[in-house]
Amino acid sequence: MDHRLALLGAHLGDDLVAVGDGIPERATHDWSGLPPVRPLALVRPRTTADVAATLKLCDAHGIALVPQGGLTGLAGGAHPVGDAVALSLERMNRIEEIDPAMATMTVEAGTVLQVAQAAAEDAGLFLALDLGARGSCTVGGNLATNAGGNRVIRYGMAREHVLGLEVVLADGTVVSSLNKMLKNNAGYDSKQLFIGSEGTLGVITRAVLRLQPRPSFSTSALCGCRDFEAVLSLLKAMRAGLGPSLTSFEVMWPSFYDFMAGSLPHLPRPLAGRHGIYVVIEASGFDAEHEAARLEAVLGAALEAGDVEDAVLAASQTDVADLWAIRESVSEYSKVLGPITAFDVGLSAGRTGEVVEVLEAGLRARWADAIALSYGHIGDSNLHLVVHVPSAGLAQPGEAITGFVYDTIRRAGGTISAEHGIGLLKRKYLSYTRSDEELDLMRRMKRALDPKGILNPGKVLG
Ligand code: LAC
Ligand code: ZN
Repeated sequence: MDHRLALLGAHLGDDLVAVGDGIPERATHDWSGLPPVRPLALVRPRTTADVAATLKLCDAHGIALVPQGGLTGLAGGAHPVGDAVALSLERMNRIEEIDPAMATMTVEAGTVLQVAQAAAEDAGLFLALDLGARGSCTVGGNLATNAGGNRVIRYGMAREHVLGLEVVLADGTVVSSLNKMLKNNAGYDSKQLFIGSEGTLGVITRAVLRLQPRPSFSTSALCGCRDFEAVLSLLKAMRAGLGPSLTSFEVMWPSFYDFMAGSLPHLPRPLAGRHGIYVVIEASGFDAEHEAARLEAVLGAALEAGDVEDAVLAASQTDVADLWAIRESVSEYSKVLGPITAFDVGLSAGRTGEVVEVLEAGLRARWADAIALSYGHIGDSNLHLVVHVPSAGLAQPGEAITGFVYDTIRRAGGTISAEHGIGLLKRKYLSYTRSDEELDLMRRMKRALDPKGILNPGKVLG
């Protein structure tokens, strides 16, 4: 038997350590599409002390370790590495406290986001962090990747929802900073180091999340717009007219909207005609009458100006689901496209229209039958692009597609990752977005916190 497995078994016990066929299939891959890898062992701690014991042991014996949350990441951050232990936080899923006076929630890292959202709601509050994978992703994974989602325009990235964090360092030291105060300027805010570090600097075990007042009213509108310039005018008008009530501004190019609607004909298609580009807007707040009237007024003015050609305003929660159906259909890619090369880039909103044209035309010039779907959180300067070349079958030209897309984004001054992170898939391109000095600082941080390089080896910095 591998002496490392003997060590893990002897120190942590069979309840925590699974090996060989005892490792469930779901722990062998994330949602990145990378081929499954069976980890050396799967460790499933029940407490922070278990996590600390695991890290201490691994650090002492040079055993590498990959932290895992809900495994919904698209960049390979939690994808297992052969010869490394997978450390799943799935058993640490307790909601420990909701503090109504501080408007905070303290949870263990393995808590599923949707479960945390529901608990906040039951307490009359609102956990505003939200993303498509809510039913599977975990709070620990959301924070480790600084996840984004559909409400960033109003509430910010995952980072903005964190007041306190408990982290286990590579050597097993537990740093418990479960702060609840909005103001705490006592020295370095070290929790920020771990948020977005994708498990390369420490393992997040518990978090204090900031809760919001629960909006009593929320509605959505789907708009068919003239062109991307019109989308930018609409965004400006919505920001000015709705202020903090503007909680989502999601854009879909016809490449995405028409393809998904055509491939999934059972989906509702609330707009009758075809348009240059589509936008889903969510408005929420505390005064139904006034919020709805303001949304209608801004839409009315945009219709009059010709920016919006047609719009549907939801009259019920069923309508809301219908208006979002095509945007939410991204979970069906594998069904309608098969293997894809997917992107999560960021660039200034003003340049996005022109860059989408360059990307879609450039891809078709290289691969005549390329299907390139463009959509994204344009209120957050975040563009998603999904590419499939049918003639290539299972052997998609992923490298060549990626090279072309990232070259274009680099020239436009954008980022190779807006919300999904670097993981394994994008590490080769990190220098497209980060300077030598920035990369050197990252390496110094990594060396300081994980001198033996046991945490999530090969991820982010490679
Ligand atoms: C989305 C995911 C892919 O926005 O980030 O649909
Ligand atoms: Zn997204």
